Amino acid sequence: MKNAIFLAPMLLLLIWIASCNRYQEANNPLWGEKLYTTRCANCHQADGKGLADLYPPLANSDFLNNDHAKVICLIYQGAKGEMVVNGKTYKQVMPANTDLSHEALAALTTYIYQKIAQQAQTTIIPLEVQQALSECK
Ligand code: HEC
Repeated sequence: MKNAIFLAPMLLLLIWIASCNRYQEANNPLWGEKLYTTRCANCHQADGKGLADLYPPLANSDFLNNDHAKVICLIYQGAKGEMVVNGKTYKQVMPANTDLSHEALAALTTYIYQKIAQQAQTTIIPLEVQQALSECK
């Protein structure tokens, strides 16, 4: 009986730890969505359509046709100054995301390509993020 009282919470703890790890897998769309909602949707909006003349769209953005590396570096480093997206000039500041791990950046960019830009076949793995970040300009 004593054992059962001890084992039950341990088992729950193990299940909880296991589910946390699953949540943090690089290509988990829930993790990517959570990162997008908390860090990007303010400006680019939940549907990725952008905000008026201030924040450019990610849905149907011609910028996303660039190399993945360029997109990953931009998300990591942020941006300021002028940027032309779909022929329109934007000049607000985008904050950097240098605190995100390679896994988090992989989950986030995969989410953007698959769910916002409707490119279901695009998956970005942490190794690709690592390689991209080592060559950012
Ligand atoms: C404070 C507002 C703001 C936040 C938050 C923000 N961005 Fe941006 N983003 C911008 C602006 C402004 C630009 C254009 C930059 C410029 O003018 O130099 C931009 C440009 C971009 C671009 C390239 C242009 C395009 O539309 O395709 C991508 C990709 C992008 N952001 C992704 C993200 C992602 C992913 C996040 C979340 C991690 C994020 N942004 C968070 C404001 C923001």
